[in-house]
Amino acid sequence: MKIARFSRVGFILAAAGSAVGLGNIWKFPYIAGEYGGGAFVLIYLFTVLLIGFSIMIAEMLIGYLGRRDTVTSFEELSPRHKHLWKFAGFQSLAGLFIMIFYSVVIGWIFNYIVTSLSSLPSNVQEAEVIFNAMLHTDALTQLFYHTIAFVWITYVLTKGVKGGIEKMNFVLMPTLMLILGGLFLYATTLDAFSQAVEFMFYPDWSKINSNAFVVAVGHAFFTLSLGMGAIMTYSASMQKNSNLVKNAFWVVFLDTSIAIVAGLMLFTFLYQYGSGPAQGPGLVFISLPAAFYEMGILGNVFAVLFFLALAFAGLTSAVSLVEPMVQYFIDRFSWSRLKSSIYMGLFFYLVGVAALLSNVDGYKEALTWGGKNFFDWVDYVTAAIMLPVGGLLMAIFVGFVMEKSRVESVMRPQLGWAFDAWYFSLRYVTPVAMFVVIISLMGII
Ligand code: PFF
Repeated sequence: MKIARFSRVGFILAAAGSAVGLGNIWKFPYIAGEYGGGAFVLIYLFTVLLIGFSIMIAEMLIGYLGRRDTVTSFEELSPRHKHLWKFAGFQSLAGLFIMIFYSVVIGWIFNYIVTSLSSLPSNVQEAEVIFNAMLHTDALTQLFYHTIAFVWITYVLTKGVKGGIEKMNFVLMPTLMLILGGLFLYATTLDAFSQAVEFMFYPDWSKINSNAFVVAVGHAFFTLSLGMGAIMTYSASMQKNSNLVKNAFWVVFLDTSIAIVAGLMLFTFLYQYGSGPAQGPGLVFISLPAAFYEMGILGNVFAVLFFLALAFAGLTSAVSLVEPMVQYFIDRFSWSRLKSSIYMGLFFYLVGVAALLSNVDGYKEALTWGGKNFFDWVDYVTAAIMLPVGGLLMAIFVGFVMEKSRVESVMRPQLGWAFDAWYFSLRYVTPVAMFVVIISLMGII
C-alpha cells in the first residue's frame, strides 16, 4: 500500500523531470532541423496544446483516482470489463523497453562528459570518426557507462518516491535549468542568435509534408512522457486535492520551454561556429562538439556543462520509465521496493547490453533483422506503436469507459467552462488524430 506522497512542488518537478529528457535536448532540435524549422515547430506546439495537454490531464486523472500501479488503476476505475481493461495498464512495459536503448544513450553522454574535459574534435569529420569508433568498435567503453547508468537509476528507484525520485529531481532539475539558462543567455549575445530565432520561428511551409505532421504528433507524446503510465504512476502519489489542470499546465510549459531554449541555444552555436542546423541524429554528438572546439577553452567548459545537463535530463526521465513496473510488482505481488527495483533494473540492463552490441561490429550481424538492428527496433516499436496506442487507450478510457459523473466531479470544478471542450476532445478529436498517426507512423519510421 502506498503512503509516500510527492510534495506539491515535488510532483511538478518529478513529472517535468520525466518529460524533459533526451527527447527535448537531443531529438527535438534535430527533427526540427530535418523538417525545416519554423513550420514544424508551430505544428509541434499546436499538437502539444491540442492533444498533448488534454491527454496529460486524462493520464493524471487515472493515476490520481486509481492511486495504485497502472494495471490496478485501470482495473479499479472501469465499471465493466475490468479483466479486459486491466491489460491497458501493461502499456507500462513500454517504459522498460524504452530503457533498453535509453540507458545506452545515457552511457554515451557520460562518456562525452569525461572526454570533453580534456579534448574536443577539431572538425566535424573528426567528430564523426570519434562517435562512430565508440558506437561501432568500443563495446567496453559503452558497457562501462551503461553499467554506471544502470547502478544510478536502480539506486534511486530503491529509495522510493520521496527519498529517491523526489530528492533526485529537486537537485537535478533546477541544476539542469540553470545550466541551460546560462548557455542560452550566452547564446543570445552571439550574432547568430537572430538566425536561430528565424530558423525556429519563421515558418517555411514548403518544407512541410504529411510526414512532418505525423512526426510532430509522435514526438509530442514522447517528449511529454505520455501513453505509458509514467505520468499516471507519479500521479498516484500526488497530494489529495491537487489541481490536475495546473499540474499538467506546468509540466507542458516546462517541457516545451526547455525544448525551445535548448533548440535556440544549439542552433545559435551551430550557426555561429559550425555548419548549420540540418544534421540528423548526430547533431549533439558530432556537430556540436566540433562547434564547441571553435570556442577554445570556453568550449570545453560549455561542452562539459551541456553534456551534464543532458545527462541530468536523461536520468530523471529514465527513473520515470522504470517506476511504473517497479510499482506494479510492489502492488500486485507484494515485492519489496528493493527487490522490484533490482529486478526491473537488471532487465533493462541485460537486454540493454544486447541493444548496445547490436551497434558493434562483429555482433551487429547477428542482432539485425529486416534492415534494422535490435537498438533501432526497440526505438521503433516503443515510439511508433506503443506510446501512441497507450495514449489512444487512455483517451478512450477517460472519454468513454469511466463513468462520466466520476470524471466530471473531479474535472469540472478545475476546468470550468473548458470541461466540455476537454471531454469532447478526448472522445473525438484525440482518438481520430491518434488513429491516423499510428497508421502513418507504422508506415514511415
Ligand atoms: N519524455 C522523455 C524524453 O523526452 O526524453 C522520454 C520519456 C520518458 C518517454 C517517460 C516516455 C515516458 F514515459
